[in-house]
Amino acid sequence: MTHAKTDAPKPPAPPVPPPTAIARDQAGCGSYRPLTPAILDALRAIVGPAHVIAGDPEKLEAYSHDEVAEREYAHMPDCAVRPGSAAEIAAILKLANRERVPVTPRGAGSGLSGGAVPVCGGIVLLSDRLNKVLEFDRDNLTITVEPGLVTNEINPLVREAGLFFAGYPMSLESCYVGGNVAENAGGGKAVKYGVTGRYVTGLEVVTPTGEIVTLGGKLSKDVTGYNLIQLMVGSEGTLGIFTKVTLKLMPLPKASVDLLVLFPSPETAIAAVPRIIAGGGVIPTAVEFMDRTSFTASCEYLNETLDYRQAGAMLLITVDGTSAREVEAAYEAVGEQCLKAGAIEVFVADNHTTSERVWKIRRNVAEAFKVRSPRQSLEDIVVPIAAIPAMVGGLLEIARRWDIEIPCYGHAGDGNLHATPVMNPAWTEGEWHDKLPRILEDIFRLTASLGGTLTGEHGIGHKRLPWMGLFCSPAHLAMMRAIKVALDPNLILNPGKVVPPGPAGFPVE
Ligand code: LAC
Ligand code: ZN
Repeated sequence: MTHAKTDAPKPPAPPVPPPTAIARDQAGCGSYRPLTPAILDALRAIVGPAHVIAGDPEKLEAYSHDEVAEREYAHMPDCAVRPGSAAEIAAILKLANRERVPVTPRGAGSGLSGGAVPVCGGIVLLSDRLNKVLEFDRDNLTITVEPGLVTNEINPLVREAGLFFAGYPMSLESCYVGGNVAENAGGGKAVKYGVTGRYVTGLEVVTPTGEIVTLGGKLSKDVTGYNLIQLMVGSEGTLGIFTKVTLKLMPLPKASVDLLVLFPSPETAIAAVPRIIAGGGVIPTAVEFMDRTSFTASCEYLNETLDYRQAGAMLLITVDGTSAREVEAAYEAVGEQCLKAGAIEVFVADNHTTSERVWKIRRNVAEAFKVRSPRQSLEDIVVPIAAIPAMVGGLLEIARRWDIEIPCYGHAGDGNLHATPVMNPAWTEGEWHDKLPRILEDIFRLTASLGGTLTGEHGIGHKRLPWMGLFCSPAHLAMMRAIKVALDPNLILNPGKVVPPGPAGFPVE
């Protein structure tokens, strides 16, 4: 969480947010060396010729972007490699340091801030061959996996032991565990269970200079020196490449119920959220928000015929617990808070089929918007929970002022909203590019004024790099820069991401 800063005045408005050209300039891409045929041969010798993709733009295109809708954030790699072990990754990084070639790690490519985009070209390092479950330890309630395992594969393996992994990113059917750790993924269960980092107790990491380091293990407590595990968590592939991840598992709740609560307007729905969180004596598992545009788009995308379209907004609330009776008492208390806050109707989904049906609508909003309008900017702001009504009111006001739609959905129970400015169809592309930075600046200044921050789960990547100065003081940014340079002196790993260069550039001024 970013706190109000006292050590610096607010900086002036940042420049136009990057198309990749600006990110390339900031990353100093010109200082890297080209990927020569000799380097390609060295890569083939490390991973085997079958695991190097080069000279084939059609195949490489898939690694030039993530799930960010706007293609101006994309950039082609020179090659992609598919290592099969930590030792191979270490050898690749040593080679890249020697030859001064950038390396960009990539998981499933489901990211939403350009984290896996090789803005300076060079090598994209794929983790899809590292997809094994290494150990399920029932006695210690942990599972140790490789980074390329699809997150959704964990729970079926541990369910019969009465356990589950509490991470629930919306892309869980495709995303990888390594990407979740690199982004510190949040998702739909964070109100009660917190985000990915809470469950990471051990990591094997290849450092940017090619050393293999083990951090932590199966421990519930560990203060042996700096907390490097949590430094790696959320580092977006800029400080190390994970090769093993140990996750803590939780007891599987015995009962769980979802409430789909309809409200007349976004304002009434969002006003209920602080009441539910602070007023009911219940910690829900999830409190998700969708405005009318969001759930309508998703229903249309899925051909879903649920007839909830008379609502102006809805909350999807999950409560879980150790008995049906406990859960019933909890959802009745939550439902009552919603009705007091002006809900039109509370539907109870107490079986798996109905629950999955309503969660599917929520999980598919982002994809539905992407299909509807690629001229959009999916944002990820977070404010303190009590400030979300003011944030949603402010977003409606910004949308009116700019004459655009800013549909909004997200993890309201965490104060985390995916406000998504969409281009007014009457505008030209040029107008959109000119106005979007100013629209975003209005949104981010409002977020900052409410004690909020730039991203809660999607990360900075290169998409949000120009806005870091609005939320982090110069001293804060200098700390991050110092860490980056200490661990990655040649700035080989994922350049152009997370930490902007200082006034005197990179390394530390
Ligand atoms: C979601 C993704 C966009 O919440 O984070 O749907
Ligand atoms: Zn989200």
